[in-house]
Amino acid sequence: MVATAVLAAGCGGPEMETPDAASPTSVAVTTSVPASATATTTIPVSTATTAEAAPTPTTTAAAAELPTTTTTVAPAETVEVIDPVGVGDSFYPGLGNPGYDVQHYEISLDVDPATNTIEASAAIVALAAEDLASFNLDLSGLEVHSVTVDGAHAAFSRSGHELSVQPADSLVAGSQFEVEVHYSGMPEPIMDPGVPFSEMGWLQRGGVIYTLGEPSGSMTWFPSNNHPTDKATYQIEITVPEGTTAASNGLLVAETADDGEATYTWRMDDPMASYLAAVYIGDFERIDHGPLHAGGPRLRDYVPRNAPAETVQALSVTPSVIAFLEERLGPYPFDAYGTIVMPFMLGLALENQTLSIHGPATIGPGIIAHEAAHQWLGNSVSPDDWSEIWLNEGFATYLHLMFEAEHYGADFDRTMADIHAWLTADGMGPPKGIEIRELFGPSIYFRGAATLHALRLHIGDNTFYEILRTHHNRSAGGTTNTEEFLGIVEEFAGPDAVDLLERWLYDQSVPPLPPAA
Ligand code: TRP
Ligand code: ZN
Repeated sequence: MVATAVLAAGCGGPEMETPDAASPTSVAVTTSVPASATATTTIPVSTATTAEAAPTPTTTAAAAELPTTTTTVAPAETVEVIDPVGVGDSFYPGLGNPGYDVQHYEISLDVDPATNTIEASAAIVALAAEDLASFNLDLSGLEVHSVTVDGAHAAFSRSGHELSVQPADSLVAGSQFEVEVHYSGMPEPIMDPGVPFSEMGWLQRGGVIYTLGEPSGSMTWFPSNNHPTDKATYQIEITVPEGTTAASNGLLVAETADDGEATYTWRMDDPMASYLAAVYIGDFERIDHGPLHAGGPRLRDYVPRNAPAETVQALSVTPSVIAFLEERLGPYPFDAYGTIVMPFMLGLALENQTLSIHGPATIGPGIIAHEAAHQWLGNSVSPDDWSEIWLNEGFATYLHLMFEAEHYGADFDRTMADIHAWLTADGMGPPKGIEIRELFGPSIYFRGAATLHALRLHIGDNTFYEILRTHHNRSAGGTTNTEEFLGIVEEFAGPDAVDLLERWLYDQSVPPLPPAA
């Protein structure tokens, strides 16, 4: 069986072939990863498949020479993320806001799909971390009609994506408060410098409204503290014309119809980073599979109504993916999981919490395993700074490659040896030495995965999985970083293993793979 790797410009090898954007097979882009690796190697993002949204890469695109993506209809503005108000993220200094900690979002969206407009409110319960005369939320575009704090009208002003709120009375450190923002308009997608291969945020295409939030896009549809360091629980209520389906994160707790409109209420009861919040609206069919096992998460998928049988068939791998991951990482961390498949060629996938978005080109076992692995590694445990992204993508890639090898009966060590040879030949720089445009590039995905492979070869399976589970368990529901991970490695495997990892993560040259322990 010969499969081709699905790769983005942002993630492609150095000798990516020019895809033919007009052909349906353009979803597959071969790379210079050696044949035995490409036979089973897929990763979830691709410029090639968004035939309308992305230009054909004209060159063999090394990560350092990423083509700047433009779009067909209305080119999105690149939102200025360099902004004085933020939480100090090293790549996105303007994302997030200091001074408070959100506990819960209650977002209500009345959506008119015909005009792609929303009438919305967001009620945000937060704790003041200090005395606050004012505070900011992140919201890009849309019109804000009113802001209240604890029911009293508050003054507000806007600058770029910063919504500044001045409550009538200053907030006292330690107190809980509730902000309510009423807003409306047509949400505008944005370009994010870390995601040159796609528009971000609220998108409409092929009769569907969907959202892509990672890292900055969620601020195109709701006001938030838009950084993973401030996780919260969510209720997302979506009103659409009756007959249209609306899905989001977590559990569907209510579905009502009234006067030609349907309201779907979704609840995410575990902490979630804003970038993983999602809305999907369209003519979808829900497929309920019930709990995966006694006490396990509820599995439900969404596919386009009258989707081809192969689409539904492709998703049937999910229970074995979750079982494979639970065996290595511990129990699935949320109360539901599933995949939503778009009805158009979407050459990427994104791990939106409990309901990953895929296109028809990204529902192979590898990418399904990749987005599922993110539920532990990325979603339950999130990076505390966007420069820590290898903790998401390197880990998810390593596990998905492993699942894929098992699924196809391929030799996993051989796959990793081939990837290592490719990284070496390419002179692939280290995951902790990237620039913002390489956030989702091949160093992060593949040198990140090879870094974990080197660790596993060095310390053996038992210690390796103990480390992965500890990494997850200690930060579940929160965030972590490389330093904490190295601390766990030191604890379980000693300073040699830390030295090895540091060479993989920080040295320019690709280290050799160690012999198996
Ligand atoms: N995290 C995605 C993955 O599973 C890649 C990704 C990052 C992405 N940002 C995105 C995909 C924005 C679509 C849109 O690898
Ligand atoms: Zn990923």
